[in-house]
Amino acid sequence: MISMHLTKKKLWDSGVEGYIFFLNDGFDLNGDFGPVEKHYPHLQELLKRHKFFGRKSDLFVLSAMDNGKLIQFIFVGVGKQAGPWNDELEILRRAVGRAVQTIKRLEIYDAAFVLPDAECYRVHPAELAKQMTIAACMTGYEFDKFKSDKRDKEWRGKLYLAVHGEGADAIEAAVNEGWLIAQSINGTRHIADLPANIATPKFVAAEAQKIAKEHNLKATIFGRDKAADLGMGGFLAVGSGSSNEPQFVVLEYAYSASAPTIALVGKGVCFDTGGVSLKPANSMTGMKYDCSGASAVINSMSAIATLKPHVNVIALAPLVENMPSGSAYRQDDIVTFMNGKTAEIKNTDAEGRVILADALAYAEKFYEPDVIIDVATLTGACSVALGHFFTALLTQDDDLAKALVEAGKLTGDRLWRLPQDDDFIEAIKSDVADIANTGSPAYGAGTITASFFLKNFVSKARWVHLDIAGTAHEVPGVNYLGKGATGASVRLIIEFVKNHAAKFRKAS
Ligand code: BES
Ligand code: ZN
Ligand code: ZN
Repeated sequence: MISMHLTKKKLWDSGVEGYIFFLNDGFDLNGDFGPVEKHYPHLQELLKRHKFFGRKSDLFVLSAMDNGKLIQFIFVGVGKQAGPWNDELEILRRAVGRAVQTIKRLEIYDAAFVLPDAECYRVHPAELAKQMTIAACMTGYEFDKFKSDKRDKEWRGKLYLAVHGEGADAIEAAVNEGWLIAQSINGTRHIADLPANIATPKFVAAEAQKIAKEHNLKATIFGRDKAADLGMGGFLAVGSGSSNEPQFVVLEYAYSASAPTIALVGKGVCFDTGGVSLKPANSMTGMKYDCSGASAVINSMSAIATLKPHVNVIALAPLVENMPSGSAYRQDDIVTFMNGKTAEIKNTDAEGRVILADALAYAEKFYEPDVIIDVATLTGACSVALGHFFTALLTQDDDLAKALVEAGKLTGDRLWRLPQDDDFIEAIKSDVADIANTGSPAYGAGTITASFFLKNFVSKARWVHLDIAGTAHEVPGVNYLGKGATGASVRLIIEFVKNHAAKFRKAS
């Protein structure tokens, strides 16, 4: 675990065990390198002699005894700093990731750094501090609850950003905000990383309840009976195969009656076996992550409640387990959703859209939101198309798309837009019901056809669909995301809600 703080002391007065330097590949050590230069007078030559050139993968550690105490100097390369600002920011996040991994490996208990020159990042120093804080805290996350080796678990590193003089207060606030956002991200990762024998629908609902209590949010949680009264035939059908009762969670952050309302809808399939359209064993591994969307929207609410954006925010999460059994829903079934529409089930493994349909209809009916953002590990086709670095964004609303893509660039929670073109409407037609739950193979594009299924359940709101099937877990090569769940969409959602959402109103 790592925690992040601001110190108003000068770097060399911070009295820590580790000093971290972010250097670009033209670095010039003419500044104040205090004790480093005392111990290593020809530092620049020394670093180059040991092949530290400040390239974006370079890392070098020097140690020295200073007044009887071992101190370590950690040099981390950030590359040329000549690319687009958002790419440079991502390189910096990964440099922070490498720094944190290094202090963890060396069991350094406290380390300090100063902000790198913010110019090439085109953001305010406070924003830079916030982004670095988030990356540091994300790197510190590990899913080690079930590891008995205590040694690894006990490391509690403290990272200090040394800022003195003007602007320190704004930067301190940004560090605190970054820490809060990271709690939402790591909370999301924890629930998604928990296996389905522990994180059942009831367990996840109880976690949501805890978040609501801690942050003064209104929580509504119900199971089969109320869902049946509401006519949520899709949600109930998917949940019918499991002895773990489905749960529907709603968390509400109220700002003011006159402000826009944003609904966040997250897919919460605690485990996806595929149902009677059973997945092959290899494709089933990792399906504990199929609740990542629900976990993201629930956990985002803790940061939202504290940051108090000027919009109302509702998180909705249908939580189910998709199991094959004597009571499971089948292929050929026809289900009726709470907005009265019907769907033919062509494949029980296309279950995410079936539970989201009722959640979207519920959001529209009871909250009439201005904007709906749904987040779902919806289609394997998404990771085929985009891989693991970009979440798919589907919408017909250009202004919403633009705001979200911008939020993605700043936060590193990156989006790539796929066409939501009306030509695909035909792909989900059914001979026996209003729509079918899989797209016709003639149309291909499984991620796009899935979004057209969802579109049937949005009536008035401005809406975007985010498919996080490729980004929610197991992202290769991004050190601060680590192994397992990544918390995809949380950084994006919080940035959007806080800095963009207030200008979005639905047409009246
Ligand atoms: N949860 C899966 C999608 C998924 C696959 C997420 C791989 C992450 C990694 C979803 O419920 C599913 O099974 N979708 C099917 C849809 C198909 C039956 C139309 C798919 O993608 O194969
Ligand atoms: Zn499925
Ligand atoms: Zn699924």
